[in-house]
Amino acid sequence: MNIKFIKNTLPTSDAHIVFVYADREMSGTAEKIDKETNGLISRAMDVGHFEGKFGQMIDLVAPTNLDINRVLVVGLGKESALDEVKVQKIGGKIMAKLISSGDENISIAADTPKNANISGAEFAAHLGYGIRLRRYRFDKYFTKEAESKKPSVIAVSLMTPAVKNALKLFTELDFVADGVQLARNLVTEPGNVVYPESYAEKIKELSTLGIDVEVLTEDEMEELGMGSLLGVGQGSACESHMVIMHWNGSENDDEPPVAFVGKGVTFDTGGISLKPGAGMEDMKFDMGGSAAVVGAMKALAGRNAKVNVVGIVGLVENMPSSTAQRPGDVVTSMSGQTIEVINTDAEGRLVLADALWYTQDRFKPKLIIDLATLTGAMMVALGQEYAGIFSNNDELCENLTTAGSQVDELVWRMPIGAAYDKMIDSKIADMKNIGGKYAGSITAAQFLQRFVNDVPWVHIDIAGTAWKTEGSDVADRGATGYGVRLLDQFVRNSYED
Ligand code: BES
Ligand code: ZN
Ligand code: ZN
Repeated sequence: MNIKFIKNTLPTSDAHIVFVYADREMSGTAEKIDKETNGLISRAMDVGHFEGKFGQMIDLVAPTNLDINRVLVVGLGKESALDEVKVQKIGGKIMAKLISSGDENISIAADTPKNANISGAEFAAHLGYGIRLRRYRFDKYFTKEAESKKPSVIAVSLMTPAVKNALKLFTELDFVADGVQLARNLVTEPGNVVYPESYAEKIKELSTLGIDVEVLTEDEMEELGMGSLLGVGQGSACESHMVIMHWNGSENDDEPPVAFVGKGVTFDTGGISLKPGAGMEDMKFDMGGSAAVVGAMKALAGRNAKVNVVGIVGLVENMPSSTAQRPGDVVTSMSGQTIEVINTDAEGRLVLADALWYTQDRFKPKLIIDLATLTGAMMVALGQEYAGIFSNNDELCENLTTAGSQVDELVWRMPIGAAYDKMIDSKIADMKNIGGKYAGSITAAQFLQRFVNDVPWVHIDIAGTAWKTEGSDVADRGATGYGVRLLDQFVRNSYED
């Protein structure tokens, strides 16, 4: 699908979208069409109880004197309340409505809002961004899909007086959308397609963008002492890998990097502590944290972000087999600390323990953000709306919270502390890999913190947000690509603008 920005002239298209604000206040183009059609839009608003509320729509068959099949009237709500996220959502709603409508060419009258905190260029660019995000569809495995279900839209023309600036802004956002798309693809691919080796190969493709990619083998990780990560993968026929991505965009080459660390369990059966069968297929998404890191690296390199970043992902498959680790096994992590593995299903933290330690040891980063589909308890606490954040640093939490609300990838801070930490003390090793019955997301975070030294760190548990059972305005049901936009915005706020 092609997204274009063109001057504000009446187009020839299959569907033409015009906007109306709250209390039926028409945008310039809506008013013009209303006049040309002897009040078609006004009448439709009367008949359809249309107030111009945010997201409200009326779908009209265009009269024969217009060179259009359909006019879609879309409500934007209060003009002064418009912001980037709302505009993206409107773009997404339009795409969701028209994606398989049969219409091929869509034109949108993106008239410049007059009383909003958003410019004409921003309005048009963020509409385009929302449209692109919502257009995503993972359909590569359908071999006999009915024509009527396939997407029909080929081109979207956004009509704006600010063509040049809108295009410039959109080009930046489009790189972020590339990262989101990559993350969604990786998460949606099944475990027989994305497994540690194939995943590492896929990440290597990012080197065409100027990202330096290194892949550690099991032998190399053995050498480094990563007994915690290796224990998780030891029951799988797939070799485990750690992949390191470097993007050096800062003008100062020696600038310490920001580090993003991701859990990449390509499939989580639970291991010997086997998960129940019902719903186990969802555990292909247990590499969602790593996918966010990979997607963010792609976005940052794509738009040439002025920052030094390292992305580190631990890629393993958690399988039960005669070589799998047993409940009760004791492993030694790269940090030297020993871990009693009480439950082989609490494997993400075992992977991250070595990934976090390696990251600090090798890169001395200025801060670390890890992302993981770490605990079912996170979904119990926050559902699918917010990801939980756990941190040793207030400022970092505030910055992430701000970035999250700017891009609608929301985070909510959860507590950590000594009382929770002692819940993971073990009788025979330095710690055990699960706590008690309560506070499961927090004891998981405490476990990670035992592998974090004196560096600002935040752990984001994305168990609830990486995959949505119902669609949103900017994503159909399924993989959300959560984290890519959040990390990108965090970098923009902290090191760029
Ligand atoms: N990958 C899961 C967490 C998860 C579960 C994410 C359900 C999304 C939905 C993780 O490896 C896991 O199995 N955690 C266990 C920990 C428990 C054994 C302490 C959990 O949350 O049940
Ligand atoms: Zn698990
Ligand atoms: Zn897991």
